[in-house]
Amino acid sequence: LHEWSVNGVAEDVIGPLRDAGEYLRTNDTPVAFPTETVYGLGADATRSTSVKGIFSAKGRPSDNPLIVHVSDLQMLRGLLQNTTPDEDPIPTMYKALIDKFWPGPLTILLPNAQPSKLAPEVTAGLPTFGARMPSSTLALSLIKLAGVPLAAPSANASTKPSPTAAHHVKHDLNGRIELILDGGPCQVGVESTVVDGLCEPPVILRPGGISLEEIRSCPGWENVAQAYKDQSEVGKAAPRAPGMKYKHYSPKARVILYEDSVSLGRTGLTAEDLAETLNTSRAGCKQVGIIRTRIWKAGAGLQMVAKEATNGTSEVNGHKIIQNALYEVTTAELRSKSGMTTSRVIDVNLGSDIRKIAQGLFSALRDLDSLGVDVIFVEGIDDKIDIAAAVMNRLRKAASEIRS
Ligand code: TXA
Ligand code: MG
Repeated sequence: LHEWSVNGVAEDVIGPLRDAGEYLRTNDTPVAFPTETVYGLGADATRSTSVKGIFSAKGRPSDNPLIVHVSDLQMLRGLLQNTTPDEDPIPTMYKALIDKFWPGPLTILLPNAQPSKLAPEVTAGLPTFGARMPSSTLALSLIKLAGVPLAAPSANASTKPSPTAAHHVKHDLNGRIELILDGGPCQVGVESTVVDGLCEPPVILRPGGISLEEIRSCPGWENVAQAYKDQSEVGKAAPRAPGMKYKHYSPKARVILYEDSVSLGRTGLTAEDLAETLNTSRAGCKQVGIIRTRIWKAGAGLQMVAKEATNGTSEVNGHKIIQNALYEVTTAELRSKSGMTTSRVIDVNLGSDIRKIAQGLFSALRDLDSLGVDVIFVEGIDDKIDIAAAVMNRLRKAASEIRS
C-alpha cells in the first residue's frame, strides 16, 4: 500500500529538495513548500524549537493546532501508540478513507501517543493530532528526504487568504523565512477536508478538497455529520476545529458575497446590483472587483471595454492588470444607475466548473487586493455540489457582508 519513492523525481529537482530536507532537520526557520491544496509552511514536527518557528513566522495563535504531513504510512505509524506487534495502530475506521483518498487532500484526526513523539506545540494541548499524506510529488519528496514528519499550516500570514502560488507566500512572509520551494500553482486550491472518525457519528470539521459525497461513499462514513460552522451559524455553538474561530481568508478589500447566485437569474450580478451598494456605501469606493462564477454574458448591464487573455502584467485604462492563467480578467466601466461613471470594475471570471472555481479562488482574492480595489462582489455557488462546500465556507469567512 502506498509504495512510493523519490526515484521518479528529476535530478535537478532532487538536489534542492535534498538541501531543503537537510535544512528542515537542522534549522528552526520553517520552509514553504507546495502541496496539491495550498502552500504549506513546514517544520520538523518532532522538535519544539522548529515548530515554534512556524507560529512566529505566521503570526499564528498558539492554540490553533497544526496538521502533520507524512510521506508514507510507516512514518504515520511511528507517531501512534504501538500496542502488540501484529496490531495496526491506525484505527480501523480510517482504513477505507486512507485507501481511497491518500495521498490527497484529506486530514484525519488520530489519538496522540503517550508519551508523544510530536512537539507539544503541534497539538496545542489536544489529545489528538491531524495527519495527512499530500499527493503533490514535491511535497512527498520533501517529507521523505527530510526523513521527519512535517508540521505545516498554510503558508499565508495569519488571517489572509491561503497561498496557492509561491509568490503569494513571498508576499506574506518575505523576510520571515529563508526558503520557498516553487512548484507552480496548486491543483486543488482549497485546503484539505478535516475529518474526525474517533467520535460517533464521525464528523467533518472543515470542508475541503474531498467532498461530503466522497467521504459518505466509504464504509462506516455513511452518516458523517457536518461539525463546522459557517458564518451564518457562528455563535450557535462552540467551533470544534480550533482554527475555525479566527478571522480567516480575508483580503484588505471588503468582500460582499451573494450567497445564492442562482437566484440572481441567468446573467448573474448586474450593474444594478452593484449600483445599489455603491450608492449606499461610503464615498471613495471607486475601484470595484467582481468575482464571477458563471459564464459572463454580454448585455448584463456591464459594458466590457477591454479584455485581456495573455499572460503577464499589462495596463488597461491606466490600471495594472495581473494576468492569471486560472481565470479571465476584464475591466468594465460601471454605468447605469450608480451615477459613478468614474468607477472602474475589474471583472474576474472563474468560470462555472466548481473544481476550477476552487483552484482560482484565493488567487483571485489576492490579485484583486493587489490591484487596490475597495470592494469585491462575489457570486456564490450552490454549496451542496462537489467541493463547493469548501469554496462557500472560505467565502463566508472572508465576507464582511452576505446577501441572499
Ligand atoms: O490542505 C491543508 O490542509 C493545508 C496544507 C498545507 O496541507 N494545511 C492547512 O493547515 O490548511 P492549517 O493550519 O491552515 O489548518 C489546519 C486545520 C485548522 O482548522 C486546525 O484547527 C485543524 O486543522 N486541526 C489541526 N489539528 C487538529 C486537532 N487535533 N483537532 C481539531 N482540529 C485540528
Ligand atoms: Mg490556514
